[in-house]
Amino acid sequence: MYIPDIIKKKRDGKSIRKEDFEFIINGYVNNKIPDYQVSSFLMACFINGLSKKETYFLTETMMKSGNMYDFSDIDGIKVDKHSTGGVGDKVSIPLAPLLASLGFYVPMVSGRGLGHSGGTLDKLESINGFNVNLSAKKFKTILKNEQVVMAGQTEKFVPADKKLYALRDVSGTVESIQLITASIMSKKMSEGIDSLLLDIKQGNGAFMKTAKQAKMLAESMYEIGIKFNKKMIYAITDMSQVLGSTAGNGIEILESMEILKGENKNRAYHLVREFAAMIMIKNSIEKSKKDAYKKIDYCINKGYAFEKFLKMIKAQGGNIDTLKRSDLLCNKRVEIKAEKNGYLKGMDTYNIGIALIYLKAGRFTKKDIIDHKTGVYVHKQIGDRVKKRDTVFTVYHNGDYVKAMNILKNVFYIGSKKCNSPKLIKIEKV
Ligand code: URA
Repeated sequence: MYIPDIIKKKRDGKSIRKEDFEFIINGYVNNKIPDYQVSSFLMACFINGLSKKETYFLTETMMKSGNMYDFSDIDGIKVDKHSTGGVGDKVSIPLAPLLASLGFYVPMVSGRGLGHSGGTLDKLESINGFNVNLSAKKFKTILKNEQVVMAGQTEKFVPADKKLYALRDVSGTVESIQLITASIMSKKMSEGIDSLLLDIKQGNGAFMKTAKQAKMLAESMYEIGIKFNKKMIYAITDMSQVLGSTAGNGIEILESMEILKGENKNRAYHLVREFAAMIMIKNSIEKSKKDAYKKIDYCINKGYAFEKFLKMIKAQGGNIDTLKRSDLLCNKRVEIKAEKNGYLKGMDTYNIGIALIYLKAGRFTKKDIIDHKTGVYVHKQIGDRVKKRDTVFTVYHNGDYVKAMNILKNVFYIGSKKCNSPKLIKIEKV
């Protein structure tokens, strides 16, 4: 096959065959095709889009580029959740052990922070000793023993995505619905799961800013999952404010524990509970949400969900004696107060994410080292009554906080009129 012919086909809006994708993607992974040709091909895909069939071929080719997990010898329903990312989105951390306590197996391959949004692996690494770099063998052993494991991808897991994503990042081809679909779904379909919940975040703290974009991405990923015979669910959820009470790393572990124990019934808790219920219904464990909530609340109230969390941490080398405030959070703090009376009508969630990077809770460059103990406690949610001098944010810092403070002073808007909290779940498809 002659590469320029494939590129020209896509450039001219014609369809690409399965063999064309295989030739380009496998050639790229094996270093036989240079960056500049693949970059040109990606731009043609970006501009002309991919049909559903082409998106499937690309996903399948990427998925098969490395080793796939096989958990078919584990007798149980294997489930996972993927979020497109946001600020304060710690949902995976309490959800995974909760699902395990409900009887599911949860082999969760997670990622690091991306841009202004936090990453599950970074949050988990706040826990002293917790190892996210597991071999495929160790990953499976922990899954078998504890029903839940949360780790990063190994070198051999979907290598095509690693290379393609790095190239997309520097060639202006990230924001394509079909390329994002293939990137995310090639990884999720390699995980050996039966069912997947996609949480598509939408709002000023999400990558998908509009309802239209979010719906298109959700439908695209959902359809690909169905083609791979997975039981698919999607939810389009609010990211127009920090999710729950905190944003950072160690501070989100503290909040996750409160959620797992039912001690903090905030919006993050409700999302965890809703997602667990959707997964139970989709996998025919319960018929109604009401019945699902009963089981979920039982596992939370009896401490079973929290027990699974502790077991997973121990199995992954974490020290459960360090799961306390003094080990997970800086003791230096400053407060940001409201300057007038009124109602919290909005937040600039994206810039809260940027302030967190200045606090070193995230990275501007790949080489930056995270300070797991910094973060923000969010005292007010959209719709809340605010009085002059009320604390809106408590900022936990390591001494270097001026830039973050200058941003955080300007990221909440107080109006005089009463307003409603945005709907937590905008659309759900179970
Ligand atoms: N996350 C991914 O894994 N891939 C994308 O393309 C975008 C977000």
